[in-house]
Amino acid sequence: MRLLLLLSSLIAFSHSSTPICRYGFTLINNKCLMLSISKLSHSAAEATCAGLGATLVTVKNSDDNRAISTIAASVPLVWIGLYCFDSDPSKCLWDDSTGSAESYNSFSTGFPLTEVGKCVYYSTQGALAGKWLSGDCVTDTRAFVCELPYTYADDCFFNYNGFCFSFHSTPATFPDAQFICEQECGNLASISSANENRYLSINLDPSFTHNYNCMTKSNVQRDTDVSGFWFGVSCTTPYSFICKRPAGVKCNGSVPPVTVTPVLSNPSNCNSSLLFAPGVITTPNYPKNYDNNVLCTYNLATLGSNKIRLRFTHFNTEECCDTMSVYDGDSISSPRMGYYGGSLSPFSLVSTGNTMTLRFQSNQNIVASGIRATFAPFR
Ligand SMILES: *[C@@H]1O[C@H](CO)[C@@H](O)[C@H](O)[C@H]1NC(C)=O
Ligand SMILES: *[C@@H]1O[C@H](CO)[C@@H](O)[C@H](O)[C@H]1NC(C)=O
Repeated sequence: MRLLLLLSSLIAFSHSSTPICRYGFTLINNKCLMLSISKLSHSAAEATCAGLGATLVTVKNSDDNRAISTIAASVPLVWIGLYCFDSDPSKCLWDDSTGSAESYNSFSTGFPLTEVGKCVYYSTQGALAGKWLSGDCVTDTRAFVCELPYTYADDCFFNYNGFCFSFHSTPATFPDAQFICEQECGNLASISSANENRYLSINLDPSFTHNYNCMTKSNVQRDTDVSGFWFGVSCTTPYSFICKRPAGVKCNGSVPPVTVTPVLSNPSNCNSSLLFAPGVITTPNYPKNYDNNVLCTYNLATLGSNKIRLRFTHFNTEECCDTMSVYDGDSISSPRMGYYGGSLSPFSLVSTGNTMTLRFQSNQNIVASGIRATFAPFR
C-alpha cells in the first residue's frame, strides 16, 4: 500500500521538462532573476517585485551572490531583499520570510550599519564587488533585482514555483472541491510558503473566498500511512477554491489516488462530517483519557473505487464496556465488521466499499487512554 502511494506520487510529480522562468525573468543558478535599472527606494522596489509575484532578490549562498553580479553587471549598485533591525547579520531578515542572514552573508567590513540605513544593497563593481552595504530604505534610490522561483513549462495560466493554480469561483464544499481538483490531476491548494501566498493573493479577485485557509500540513500526526499528506480543518461550508497541480505534467483526467482529508480543528474527529482518506481518528482527548459516557461516530470515505484500510495503532479501553464498533458501509445500519474493547495490539480492517462507519461508546465508569486509528485508500 505504501509502495503504491509512493509510486503514484512519484508519477504525479516527475517532470520531464527542464526549469523555466516566466514573466521575462532569466534563469541563473536555478533562480529566476530580473534586473530593473530604474532607481527606486527600497520599499518602492520591493512593491514593484511584489507586483510580479516576486520578491527582491535573496542570497542564501555564494552561488546566489555571484548570480547578482551576472544579472546586474550593467549597474554599480542594486537593492537586495534584506532588511536589518540592528547592525548584526542575525538581525537582518530576508524579504521572502525565510529567516536571517546569519548563516550566509557577504557584508562589507563594518556592515550592516543601521545608523546609515536598515536596507541592504549590493555592489557589483570595483573593490567592493559582491559585497553588501547598508542604505536608507526611503531616501536612497537604486536599481534592483527581483527574484521568482523557477517552474516548468506548461500551458496553464497561473504557473508558479513548479505548480499550476486554477481558480474556481463557484462555491463547493471541501469534498466536492477536492474532487474537482482531482479531475485536473491536482489537489485543493495548500499554501506552502509566504511567497506562494503572495503570488496567489496578487492574482486573486479581492472578493474571492477560498478554503485553503482550512488546510494545514500534518506535522504532528505522523504515521506510516499518512505522513507528509496535507490535512485541513473541517470545511462543510461551500467556498470558492483554488486547485494546485504540478506544472509540466500531462493530465488525462484519471484520478490520482493521493487525496486530502478535511479534518482537524476537532483533532479527534469525533462526530465530524464525512472524513476523506487518508486521515486519522482518535477518541476525544487522545492521548489523554477519554471521558465517561462518550458517544462518537466517525464516517470515513474514500473517492472512486478504492476501499478503506483502517488501522488501529493504539487501542486501550475498558474491555467490557468502552467499545469501538466498525461497520462496513456508510452508517451504523451497515453490516458490523467487528466490536472491540480492551487493550489490543495494532490491527487492520479493510472495507468492501468506499465507506466505513465507526462508533465509540464509553459507559459511566472507568476511563483509559483510548484509541487512535489511521485510514487510507486501499486497492
Ligand atoms: C491516463 O494515464 C494513466 C497513467 O499514465 C493511464 O494508465 C491511463 O490509461 C490514461 N488514460 C487515458 C484515457 O489516456
Ligand atoms: C456525538 O453525536 C451524538 C449524537 O448526536 C451525541 O449524542 C454525542 O454527545 C456527540 N459526541 C460528542 C463528543 O460531542
